[in-house]
Amino acid sequence: MEPLIRVQNLMKIYNPGENEVRALDDVSLDIGQGEFVAIIGQSGSGKSTFMNMLGCLDVPTSGHYFLNGKDVSSLSDDELSEIRNQEIGFIFQGFNLIQNLTALENVELPLIYRNVPAAERRRLSEESLKRVGLEKRMDHKPTEMSGGQQQRVAIARALAAAPPLILADEPTGNLDSKSSREIMDILRKLHTEGRTVILITHDDKIAQSAKRIIRIMDGKIESDSGMADPKSMEEENGEK
Ligand SMILES: Nc1ncnc2c1ncn2[C@@H]1O[C@H](COP(=O)(O)OP(=O)(O)OP(=O)(O)O)[C@@H](O)[C@H]1O
Ligand SMILES: [Mg+2]
Repeated sequence: MEPLIRVQNLMKIYNPGENEVRALDDVSLDIGQGEFVAIIGQSGSGKSTFMNMLGCLDVPTSGHYFLNGKDVSSLSDDELSEIRNQEIGFIFQGFNLIQNLTALENVELPLIYRNVPAAERRRLSEESLKRVGLEKRMDHKPTEMSGGQQQRVAIARALAAAPPLILADEPTGNLDSKSSREIMDILRKLHTEGRTVILITHDDKIAQSAKRIIRIMDGKIESDSGMADPKSMEEENGEK
């Protein structure tokens, strides 16, 4: 079966010429449907650059990126935004919620862009907020919630349309340790339910939650703990 993500010889070069920076230097990897992967590396190693590629927020200088079998390396801005909308749920360090909308309205937003009818939109959003334990906070605005609650709203928003890929960029970067644990518990649970989760972090402890850890350094893959063995994954899921 085709992997969810196939990256081949991906290069991203900033300032081509004398001062060029190879932010991604010949990166190739596959990530299968249902994997829980952490991408870890020091500041400046290329994590955000890689995240931008995987999230279809930017295109590579050269190389290929197949998402769900489709080559997205050379699409136009409009086509990229369509792919983002259909295929990817984003979770960011800064939550990125709209301040004057309630939790429910924030979660509904991507569904509006997807032309989901109003009643269905509401049902999916309520369900999604319940899954992250916020059924009592649906009508609250971001300023009326803690950081951990805001990040849970952002997770509910990422989940509502059931995209095949969840991309989280330092999702616990602005949270205390208790809220961080709650967020990681939710991401782990999503993985056990069969979602594909890619987590970007500089924190070893956070990365340990993932089933596969990919280390990048100077734009290159330094180590990759490899694809999880599907059998051991099943056993683990059965235990929970
Ligand atoms: N727009 C840009 N123009 C030029 N160089 C850039 C640009 N964006 C990133 N870089 C360089 O590319 C390299 C990788 O940057 P990137 O932002 O991907 O690192 P990172 O791993 O996300 O770091 P951090 O943990 O600090 O967020 C760095 O050397 C950075 O200076
Ligand atoms: Mg970064």
